[in-house]
Amino acid sequence: MAHEIDEGTAYGLPEGGYERDLVEVGRGTPGGEWLRRYWQPVALSSEATDLPKEVRILGEDLILFRDGHGRPGLLYPRCCHRGTTLLYGRVEKEGIRCCYHGWLFDTEGRCLDQPCEPNGGQKRHLHRQPWFRVEERYGIVFAYLGPPEHRPPLPRYDVLEDTAPDRVVHATTRTLQTGGPEVMDCNWVQTYENVADPLHAWITHGMISGPQLGERLAEPPDDVTYEPTELGMRSLVHRNARPDEPENTAVLELILPNVSIVPLEIHREDGRATALAWHLPIDDTHTKIFTVAVIPPVHRGFDSTKLPVFGGKPWHELDLEGHQRFPGDYEAQAGQGRITFHSEERLVSSDRGVLLFRKQVRRAHAAMAQGKPPGPQREMVVVQAGRYGENATAWSPFGSLKQEQIDSDA
Ligand code: FES
Ligand SMILES: [Fe+2]
Repeated sequence: MAHEIDEGTAYGLPEGGYERDLVEVGRGTPGGEWLRRYWQPVALSSEATDLPKEVRILGEDLILFRDGHGRPGLLYPRCCHRGTTLLYGRVEKEGIRCCYHGWLFDTEGRCLDQPCEPNGGQKRHLHRQPWFRVEERYGIVFAYLGPPEHRPPLPRYDVLEDTAPDRVVHATTRTLQTGGPEVMDCNWVQTYENVADPLHAWITHGMISGPQLGERLAEPPDDVTYEPTELGMRSLVHRNARPDEPENTAVLELILPNVSIVPLEIHREDGRATALAWHLPIDDTHTKIFTVAVIPPVHRGFDSTKLPVFGGKPWHELDLEGHQRFPGDYEAQAGQGRITFHSEERLVSSDRGVLLFRKQVRRAHAAMAQGKPPGPQREMVVVQAGRYGENATAWSPFGSLKQEQIDSDA
């Protein structure tokens, strides 16, 4: 008997693939070299101690420690003598001493002592343990893993500098909003593109699992536009006035290559957001998000890992069914797989922010391929993200919020 031939089945589906230049973070890859032109967070300051710590960043394994003078150091793990790991080194006042033959290295890799050599090693100055420069700010140890001749200043962010006296600048590797694991088992771009995709908020955090991040997300925004900025891009999420909410525009910002700023309920008087996130690629398939936030006294001691926003439970208490019934950001982003298949995507009009981001990445890579800087860098970054009301007399980082939609640019 004749029967209908099914269309669109998964039979013969080609194997998926991804845009390597967009996602890869290793040395020598376009994406990895781009990320290496910027300071990256390595660890919380509290994690740099007299006990050496293994850290992995951009696919490189390194050893972090803090010497007796309080200086953090970040060294290549294999001792330059005969290769044992400095993880078992002993931290001393002047540096870290290898457990095998006792070579002592300072935080910049200089060899200060070779106890098995006559006179502590007459030629010790010829040996240097490979190292990276680090600087501490906002409770985070930042490192520069790129070509030394291109090292920019470690940037400051104005909303983290100019804070009210009763507020503290707090660093964490826990998401501020809904808990979740410290390490996401997926490529960093999946976590970053999420911020260029604000429409997901009313679906994931409203329609599907809501309210996860406030009642506001129960309804879709009235307008969303995406625009390039000097340092990246911003998404403008506009809501018309409602009985319980005045007209307002939330501005989400990406500061390339990997800082994001989302307006939360805590913000400044002028509406600007005060929580910045660095989406640190541990390697191609793992991501750690470092957040620095300005915390008012009332929120001190707040623990997002205990927020019961997943059907009445915190994220860490969910079983599989809980993750299925109340998915959040982790499920959506890690659910795309270790590295999502770009070949299987169907990008549509609501993906304009994602398209704009990818276009900017390709432009940065192209600039570097021509020997140019990937983009502008600022010593003091003026944050634009925030929530701005219709009648706000508040400071606004740009003129009219209702600017032309830049579809053509996306
Ligand atoms: S292997 Fe480190 S001092 Fe010999
Ligand atoms: Fe989200």
